[in-house]
Amino acid sequence: MNRIKAFAPATVANVSCGFDVLGFALDKVGDVLELELLPNQTIIIDPINGPGNLSTEPEKNICGVVAKAMLDALDSKQGLRMKLTKGVLPGSGLGSSAASASVTAFAVNELFNKPFSEKQLVEFAMLGEKLASGTAHADNVAPALLGGFTAIRSYDPLDIIRIPVPDELYCTVIHPKIEVRTELSRNILKKQVELKIAIKQWGNVAGLVAGLYSSNYDLIGRSLTDYIIEPVRSRLIPGYYELTKYALLAGALGCGISGSGPSVFSLSKGVPTAQKVAEAFNEKATLLGLPFDIYISKIADKGARVI
Ligand code: HSE
Repeated sequence: MNRIKAFAPATVANVSCGFDVLGFALDKVGDVLELELLPNQTIIIDPINGPGNLSTEPEKNICGVVAKAMLDALDSKQGLRMKLTKGVLPGSGLGSSAASASVTAFAVNELFNKPFSEKQLVEFAMLGEKLASGTAHADNVAPALLGGFTAIRSYDPLDIIRIPVPDELYCTVIHPKIEVRTELSRNILKKQVELKIAIKQWGNVAGLVAGLYSSNYDLIGRSLTDYIIEPVRSRLIPGYYELTKYALLAGALGCGISGSGPSVFSLSKGVPTAQKVAEAFNEKATLLGLPFDIYISKIADKGARVI
């Protein structure tokens, strides 16, 4: 095999209370990468198919950086030609950099007959996150690679937990079409958290994980509150509190900022409620005069895959 085409999904990271720890995969939306083995040690990135202004210089491109690290680890004498099609808009809060990094880690591993473990693939993909945002966080790349709902219990050493998801849990996401750069939205965060606020936050993380394990939708809803990051980042999202208020009135279990924003996600029990939330988002965003996209998705069981 000297060619492969693969897909990695968009993801919702943080999931309100779990900054840099929790994340889940969406279905349908994602990045596609075509790889071709080259006989010499070069990496060639074809012009990117899709919006944005991403560099095709290997050392400045997420796919290039991840692929180079993997080829080096394999001590490969071969190189790669890469053609990326972006389905996830950069700066959307839907794990755009993670989708590119993850599809690369996955596809290179497949092309070389799977020399790396899943955990190593996450570590390679984290290099792409570091290039994109200055921090090697794993809350997007873990679900983009492994699918489902994941928690990063520890970064050092990396310890990833796959969390079961109730059957009727659906996500509605609105992507207001403004760009929020992850690096900026990380830099504005406070570096310290008061103990009494931290207690509330980790209570919610415990509640959310327990709710997912026990299919307790009310508990999931009660736990979807972020006392630390949302108060700061919501300022970057026009109409954030109005959008979430409308979603809750439409029956959402809870809402939050998707990743570093500007996308806003909500979780609902069942498709009809997820659709009502989509209508509520639609109505409110139209009133606010924002251009937007809306997606309804199950928590996707599958992450990166050959297509
Ligand atoms: N956990 C990361 C953040 C996700 O919120 O900065 C970025 O997509």
